[in-house]
Amino acid sequence: MSDAPLTKDPADAAPLAEDLVVLDSVNKHFGALHVLQDINLTIKRGEVVVVIGPSGSGKSTLCRAINRLETIDDGTITIDEKPLPAEGRELARLRADVGMVFQAFNLFAHKTVLQNVTLGPVKVRGVAKDEAEAKARQLLDRVGVGNQADKYPAQLSGGQQQRVAIARALAMEPKVMLFDEPTSALDPEMINEVLEVMQQLAQEGMTMVVVTHEMGFARSAANRVVFMADGRIVEEAEPHQFFDNPRSDRAKDFLSKILQH
Ligand SMILES: Nc1ncnc2c1ncn2[C@@H]1O[C@H](COP(=O)(O)OP(=O)(O)OP(=O)(O)O)[C@@H](O)[C@H]1O
Ligand SMILES: [Mg+2]
Repeated sequence: MSDAPLTKDPADAAPLAEDLVVLDSVNKHFGALHVLQDINLTIKRGEVVVVIGPSGSGKSTLCRAINRLETIDDGTITIDEKPLPAEGRELARLRADVGMVFQAFNLFAHKTVLQNVTLGPVKVRGVAKDEAEAKARQLLDRVGVGNQADKYPAQLSGGQQQRVAIARALAMEPKVMLFDEPTSALDPEMINEVLEVMQQLAQEGMTMVVVTHEMGFARSAANRVVFMADGRIVEEAEPHQFFDNPRSDRAKDFLSKILQH
């Protein structure tokens, strides 16, 4: 893996101060189920927030709401001070600002790795094909899969596919990257290669929201841990404080279960 930065120029990153993603009193129901309950969460530019919590607590729904893959019932979500647009070109542009990497590999199966990475910039950002390809090859090199550019996703390992998914999201030059359990479908030996890429991104100042059970990553990369249970944010703290000294019984209980592994 090359040491070159994954983002354009880390010096471009603004200092940690500005609010980039702001959720204000966000509520969401699935029928009778209140999956997001009065969520208030502010993510600053350059901040890495790890979201943890039991299954069904609303972590994925939270990520999907930030990308407007899910609508919300009330409250507001703003990105760089702009409210999430409802639809159309504005929404496509917003999605380009919010990169997302999911648990299941969601590359386009019938397109090559290179095509997967160039599609968004060409179609949504209007970048010229040559330029998009040059940039894509650079990004693929940086996540360590530069030699796989002409293969199809099925010819790659899970870890390689997730690194392509990260390169694909980065190709749009997003303002924030959302990761929803990006390593939980991977064989154990492939987890670290993906976490290393994420760690490098974090160090370069990318704003990141990461849902993960990888507590080592949370400890070393996160500025803040957000603990969710039953659709609520129960606790928020710096990693060392959260892991060494959780305040709520819910968090204590959750940590005692997952740290046994
Ligand atoms: N499209 C949907 N329709 C109905 N209910 C849903 C839908 N998506 C999620 N849910 C429910 O909403 C709750 C929160 O789901 P969500 O996927 O956000 O949880 P999670 O914290 O990501 O869980 P996990 O750790 O298992 O991924 C769950 O009870 C889930 O069953
Ligand atoms: Mg989930």
